[in-house]
Amino acid sequence: SAAEKDGYEHFMLKEIAEQPRAVADTLRGRFDTSGQILLDEVRMSDQDFRDVDKVFIVACGTSYHAGMVAKYAIEHWVRLPCEVELASEFRYRDPVLDRSTLVIVISQSGETMDTLMALRHARNQKARVLAISNTVGSTIPRESDAVLYTRAGIEVAVASTKAFLTQLAACYLVGLHLAAVRGIKYADEVGAVVAELAAAPDKIAEVLAAMEPVRELARSMGTADRALFIGRHVGYPVALEGALKLKELAYMHAEGFAAGELKHGPISLIEAGTPVVVVVPSPRGRSLLHDKVVSNIQEVKARGATVIAIAEEGDAVVAPHVDHTVFTPRVPTLLAPLLTAVPLQVFACELAAAKGLDIDQPRNLAKSVTVE
Ligand code: G6P
Repeated sequence: SAAEKDGYEHFMLKEIAEQPRAVADTLRGRFDTSGQILLDEVRMSDQDFRDVDKVFIVACGTSYHAGMVAKYAIEHWVRLPCEVELASEFRYRDPVLDRSTLVIVISQSGETMDTLMALRHARNQKARVLAISNTVGSTIPRESDAVLYTRAGIEVAVASTKAFLTQLAACYLVGLHLAAVRGIKYADEVGAVVAELAAAPDKIAEVLAAMEPVRELARSMGTADRALFIGRHVGYPVALEGALKLKELAYMHAEGFAAGELKHGPISLIEAGTPVVVVVPSPRGRSLLHDKVVSNIQEVKARGATVIAIAEEGDAVVAPHVDHTVFTPRVPTLLAPLLTAVPLQVFACELAAAKGLDIDQPRNLAKSVTVE
């Protein structure tokens, strides 16, 4: 009903707007004084966490993209090897699992059948399973050894938005938890992450407050029938998520690529006017990455692409090379997806609205896929 939508035309718009609150709720009260993260249900000891020598992250859809971001954070902060797998592939390829493997399963609904079957397979092989889920008491958390609940609140729109941002927040918490329990002395960078995480909800709100140009841009693109998304490092999963949102909502052929792979094929897709959305890394710190993305932008521009850049505030280098720039606030590189994903959600939602499509219930899709 209209009342449930809180005055918004679609649940998705409401859920996009709720993201600062959802992330703040997911972080609230999760740190104890020693910096350890408080998980909700833990049937694993600190020693179990210390014994971990390998991490797998297993999920489907948008949750898989959150897992891809988590891999970058966990490997960097915890120095544990970490792989990310689609749940539908994981158990069929005979992954190497034992009691020192930690399998993190991410599922908004807690009921996705592929993810549940992957979890059961992992537990049969004696691996420990930690679930990140938005649904208290659902099957996946119930069958896991430990659980961290996201607190997005009920997500109604089929295309995931606020659940995704809270999954990212939960993944960062798990990374910090692993680092703390394993006694890895926080580097300055990691210590600062906790404060930066706490500041993220306000920055997400800042991004949301500046979305009108993105909506206009989406409306002006109503006739485009395809789009490419590119990024590097954590911008790569964000590019995949941006493309998924366009597929889900606007029924457009949209594909995300690692920007470095452009020259190995995707660049041949570029014609005059092909929209290319580029998730640009911060020019600070890892400026090498930034330079590489700028040359990727030049490569696609030279072939006639219309380039839309998602760039960090103060990035003066990118703007002259692109057609449109959307700025997001400064944040440590690993946390950037909390901000850079937001304009891509808004873009897809508005494009679908411009096409007169059903935003909350796209054709052929289900909120929770309970068949394999
Ligand atoms: C469906 C939904 C997606 C979701 C995916 C995984 O495809 O439409 O939005 O990302 O399932 O769902 P889960 O509940 O396991 O996160």
